[in-house]
Amino acid sequence: MDITFLLNGETVTARTAPTVTLLDWLRTDRGLCGTKEGCNEGDCGACTVMVTDDRGAQSLNACILFMGQLAGKAVRTVEGIAGPEGLHPVQQAMVDHHGSQCGFCTPGFVVSMATAHLNGRVDHDDQLAGNLCRCTGYAPIVRAAQAAAEAPVPKHMRDVAPGGGTPLAPRDADALAAWYLDHPDGTLIAGATDVGLWVTKQFRDLGDVAFLHACADLQEVSVTEDTMHFGAGVTMTRVLEAVAGEYPSYAAMIRRYGSVQVRNAATIGGNIANGSPIGDNPPALIALGAVLHLRRGDVVRDLALEDFFLAYGKQDRQPGEFVTGVTIPRGRAAHRVYKLSKRFDQDISAVCGGFDVTVTGGVVQAARIAFGGMAGVPKRAGAVEAALVGQPWTDETVMAALPAFAQDFEPLGDMRASAAYRLAAAQNMLRRYHADLSGGDVDVRRVSA
Ligand SMILES: Cc1cc2nc3c(=O)[nH]c(=O)nc-3n(C[C@H](O)[C@H](O)[C@H](O)COP(=O)(O)OP(=O)(O)OC[C@H]3O[C@@H](n4cnc5c(N)ncnc54)[C@H](O)[C@@H]3O)c2cc1C
Ligand code: FES
Ligand code: FES
Repeated sequence: MDITFLLNGETVTARTAPTVTLLDWLRTDRGLCGTKEGCNEGDCGACTVMVTDDRGAQSLNACILFMGQLAGKAVRTVEGIAGPEGLHPVQQAMVDHHGSQCGFCTPGFVVSMATAHLNGRVDHDDQLAGNLCRCTGYAPIVRAAQAAAEAPVPKHMRDVAPGGGTPLAPRDADALAAWYLDHPDGTLIAGATDVGLWVTKQFRDLGDVAFLHACADLQEVSVTEDTMHFGAGVTMTRVLEAVAGEYPSYAAMIRRYGSVQVRNAATIGGNIANGSPIGDNPPALIALGAVLHLRRGDVVRDLALEDFFLAYGKQDRQPGEFVTGVTIPRGRAAHRVYKLSKRFDQDISAVCGGFDVTVTGGVVQAARIAFGGMAGVPKRAGAVEAALVGQPWTDETVMAALPAFAQDFEPLGDMRASAAYRLAAAQNMLRRYHADLSGGDVDVRRVSA
C-alpha cells in the first residue's frame, strides 16, 4: 500500500504494509537511525517522533505507531529538529547543560523537548515523564528544557499536515460499521497502544485492519448541561483536558496514565473495548455511572459500563459491533479516583479505585464504588456499597464496611502486588476517600524541594 505523508518537511510515499511500525520503516527502509529502539513497547521514549495533524503537533512513540496511521500527517524525527540556522534551542541547551552521556535516550528526549517547546509547555516533568534515561539523571535534562523554554520556535518546526487518508481508515462511523459487518474477524486499530504490542512483542498477523483515527464522529467531545460525551476515538490527552475542570481527581489520575506519548495515542474507547482488568478508565467511569454506546451495522445500543465486562477477556460485544462512545454525568462533586502503582509515572496500576458516594444530612444515600486490579474485570464493590448505604457517613461506618471487601473481591497476586496487598490497598482507598471528603483532599505525592 502507498502511504503519503510529510517527513522532515519533504513529501514521501512509503510503499509498505500498513501495520509496519514507523520505527521499523524509518530505520530499515529509510535509513534514518537517529530514532532509537529501546523497549519496542511504548515505555522508554527512545523512539519519540513529532507528528502534526489538524489538531496540532504531538509527540508519539514510533515503535507502536503504524504506518497506516500516518497518511496525510507530518512526521518530524530527530534528524529534522536542527534547521538551517543550526542546532535547535533544546539541542544547544542539552549540550550546554550536559544533558547527555551515552546518548541512547537523547534523540527521544530532544524530540519530546522540541515538541513541548513548540507547544509552549513548561511542565517539563510531565512532558518528559515518558522518556527514560539510564545514565545522565534527569536534573540536567530538565535544566536544559528550562533553559530553552524562552527561545523562539525555529520556523521549520511548524509543519502543516498535507491531509488525505488511507483506504483503511473509514471517514465516519457509518463507513466503519459497514466495513466491520463485512469483516467481523478484522482488527480495529485506534491508538495502537495495545495493538502495537501484538505486533512488536507477539509478532501477530493482524489480518484485515481498519484504522479509527479518521472517523470524524468518533473523535468528538460534546458537553451539555448535564452530561459529557466522549467519542470512542478521543485520546486520553483530550479526555484529560475535558475533565480537568469538572473532575480534577480523574484528571490527576489520567496525568499518570502512561506518558504524554502514550496519552497522545491511547483512546478512551480502546481502553474500554480491550476489557483489561487493569484499565484505568473503567473504575473511574463506572463510579460515575457511565453509559457505553455500541453499534453493529445500523443497530445501536446503550448499556451501563459495568455490564459490558462479563468475565476475564469476555465483553458484551457481538462480532462486527464496536464502541462508539461513552457518556458520563456532570457535577458529581464527590467523585474521586485513586491509582496505585509501583512507580508514580508511566506505570500500570496495581489497584485503581473509583468512588462516588452521595451523602445527605450526614447519611449515605447511594454509593458507587468500582475497582480495577481486584478481579478478572473492572468490578463494582456491591457488598461494600451495601454496607455504607443508609449508614451515617462516619469513620465507624467506613471501618465497619472494610470486611465487605473480602466478599466482593478475591484478587490475584502477581508481580505488581500480592493478593493481600491489593485487598488492603483497596480498603485503605475507601478510608482515604472518606478522609478526603471529610477533611479536604490530601496530595499524597511527596515532591522534594
Ligand atoms: C507504555 C504504556 C503505558 C500504558 N499505561 C496505561 C495506564 O497507565 N493505564 C491504562 O489503563 N492503560 C495503559 N496502557 C494501555 C493502553 O494505553 C490503553 O489500554 C489504551 O487506552 C488503549 O487504547 P488504544 O486506542 O491505544 O487501543 P488499541 O491498541 O488501538 O486497541 C485496543 C483494543 O481495543 C479494540 N478497539 C479499539 N477501539 C475500539 C472501538 N471503538 N470499538 C471496539 N473495539 C475497539 C482494538 O481492536 C483492540 O482489541 C499503557 C500502554 C502502554 C503501551
Ligand atoms: S522503543 Fe521504547 S518507547 Fe519506543
Ligand atoms: S544518556 Fe545514556 S540513557 Fe540517557
